[in-house]
Formats: sequence, C-alpha cells, structure tokens
Amino acid sequence: MEKINAVVTGVGGYVPDYILDNEQLSKMVDTTDEWIMTRIGVKERHILSEEGLGTSYMARKAVKQLLQKTGVNPDEIEMIAVATSTPDYHFPSTASILCDKVGLKNAFAFDFQAACCGFLFLMETAANFIRSGKYKKVIIVGADKMSSMVDYSDRAVCPIFGDGAAAFLLEGTTDNFGILDSYLRTDGKGLPFLHMKAGGSVCPPSYFTVENKMHNIYQQGRTVFKYAVSLMSDSSAEIAKRNHLDKNSIDWVIPHQANRRIIEAVAHRLELPMDKMLMNIEHYGNTSAATLPLCVWDYEEKLRKGDNLIFTAFGAGFTWGALYMKWGYDTEKS
Ligand code: UT7
Repeated sequence: MEKINAVVTGVGGYVPDYILDNEQLSKMVDTTDEWIMTRIGVKERHILSEEGLGTSYMARKAVKQLLQKTGVNPDEIEMIAVATSTPDYHFPSTASILCDKVGLKNAFAFDFQAACCGFLFLMETAANFIRSGKYKKVIIVGADKMSSMVDYSDRAVCPIFGDGAAAFLLEGTTDNFGILDSYLRTDGKGLPFLHMKAGGSVCPPSYFTVENKMHNIYQQGRTVFKYAVSLMSDSSAEIAKRNHLDKNSIDWVIPHQANRRIIEAVAHRLELPMDKMLMNIEHYGNTSAATLPLCVWDYEEKLRKGDNLIFTAFGAGFTWGALYMKWGYDTEKS
C-alpha cells in the first residue's frame, strides 16, 4: 500500500473585534507600553468581550470560514477536534458544540488538552487518523479564550494573553507533502510553575477559591521563560537535523507566540534570520492553542507549495516539541 501523508488543504481563522492595547492596560495595572514591548513584544490583543460567548463561538467562526474558503461540504468531514484549555464547559466538549453550530453530521468530535502545545500535538494526532487510510477529511482547531482565565490586576500575566481561534483542513495525499515528522515531549515537571490552582477535581470551585483568585493563570514567568527558550530551540534543532534541514532549506518557522524574546532565541539557535520566523504576537499576544494556526492564517499568502515549515511550541505541563511540514498549496494573492 502506498504511504499516505496528511496535508493541510485550507485554513480559517477568527479573532474578536475588541482590542485591548497597551495604553488601556497601563491604566489598569502598573505597567507601560515600553516595558511590555521590550520584555514580551505584544502591542495589543483581541478579547472576546461579549457576555455569554465562549471558545466555541470563535472556533465556529474559524471553521465556517474554512468550509467557505475550501468549498468542502460539511457532510464530508469525518472528525473534528479542538485543542483548547478554555472549553465552553467541563463537559460536553467544545468540539461537540461545534458540530451542531457548523452543521457537521458525519463526524466524531473531541477536545484535546495539551495547553499551549495543544495544536502542535493535535496536528500529529490527526495526521495519524489520515495516515491510517480510514479518514479522508479531518478538521483540527486551536481555540482559546485566555481572557477567561486572566486576572486583569496581575501585571505579570495580563499583558501576555489574548483570544482567538483558527482551523486547518487535513486531507490524505500520496505525494511527499504535509506533516512529515514530529518530535513531541511532555515531562509533567512544569506543574508548579504554570497552572490554574482551582476548578478541577483536586480543588473544585468554592467561595474560597473565587475569593482567592484561584481560577486565574498562575505562572512563575522567569522559570517558564528559561524552559521555553531551551526546549523550543532544542526540539527545533533536532527536527531540522534529522530531516537534513538547515538555514537554507528551512523556509519558515512557525513558533508559539508567547514572547518575542523566546522566538529570537529559537532563530539564533537555528541560525535563521528573523524574517523567516512568522510572527503576529504584536497584534494577538499569546492565544495558547490558537497561536500556530493563527500564524498560518495570517501568512497563508506567503507560503508556497513545497516550502519547508517547522512548527514549534512550549506550554504548561511542561509540553514542548517541533513538527516538520512540507506546505501543500499556493494561495492566490487577494
Ligand atoms: O505559553 C507559555 C506561557 N507563558 C510564557 O511563555 C511566559 C514566559 N515568561 C515570560 O515571557 C517572561 O518571564 C515575562 C514576560 C512573564 C516576565 O518577563 P521577565 O523579563 O522574566 O520579568 P520578571 O518576571 O523577571 O520581572 C522583572 C521585573 C520585576 O520587578 P522587580 O522585582 O525586578 O522590581 C517585575 O515585578 O519586572 C516587573 N514586572 C513588570 N513591570 C512592568 C513584571 N510585569 C511587569 C509589567 N510591567 N507588566
């Protein structure tokens, strides 16, 4: 039997209209545009501010755009998965809500939790469904409403995060395109440094947990930063080495958008110029599981059939890794 690869055949995305910029933030907490731009590289972030709307709302917009752009009939979609840390509800899954909202009748659906590495790990997972030969058309979504977990009085956290969603259509091909290799890891040692203290089964919600802000992101930024730099750099270097890619043959790196300085460190390690590092952190901040597909959504017109792409991410857990993809299509300039 011929080898089947999973290739991206379309991208859709969505960010909410409301923009929270550094000027507004500096009126909410003791910070400045200069500090945020120098230490993180975020100018503004999009926030889903309407009450009653959750992650599935953004995911729905992204998937609808994807279906419209690709012209694929929703009945053909056999599986849909949403990488998220901010599901609409503990249960049922955000993906199940999506099935109803976008009219998928022949798909099975599930959520996928690997924090900021959710979409990276999901790409490899979904690719295996395609590689098996059983599934022909699969949608994967990265979507997070990070504003639902951010304490907007904590200056060490609130400048970093934003909301957004983006989706890929994956299909099978016997050509040498698509997801060709991945190096993915998790160690579980990152728990003390990056987590939400309450709301799960260890510490269910109570008046105490709400009063003590235990439903917000807790992070020890400096430690997280240190691990993110070394593990994203090491995994990118490893995936490049074992696929015989170097600074000339790598066309683009799509890094998790957590901090501009982390991205610069990865570029340095791969000896790549910064213009090969795709970035939109300045406008969206860290949208967790949505950063990678949102980046592809923003830069889709730049990507050419046959381009060598390295995706890399790092997140809570700790989780980290890199993935090698050969891009499968050209986009007409709009
Ligand atoms: O996807 C994974 C999720 N998280 C990350 O990737 C985050 C990784 N970490 C980071 O990006 C950085 O560690 C931060 C951006 C969070 C912080 O930058 P840093 O350069 O590591 O700063 P720091 O935490 O070491 O703090 C330096 C100083 C402190 O003041 P003192 O103690 O030196 O007087 C902080 O209180 O900066 C202060 N500070 C701020 N000052 C102005 C912290 N946040 C702010 C702020 N504005 N927003």
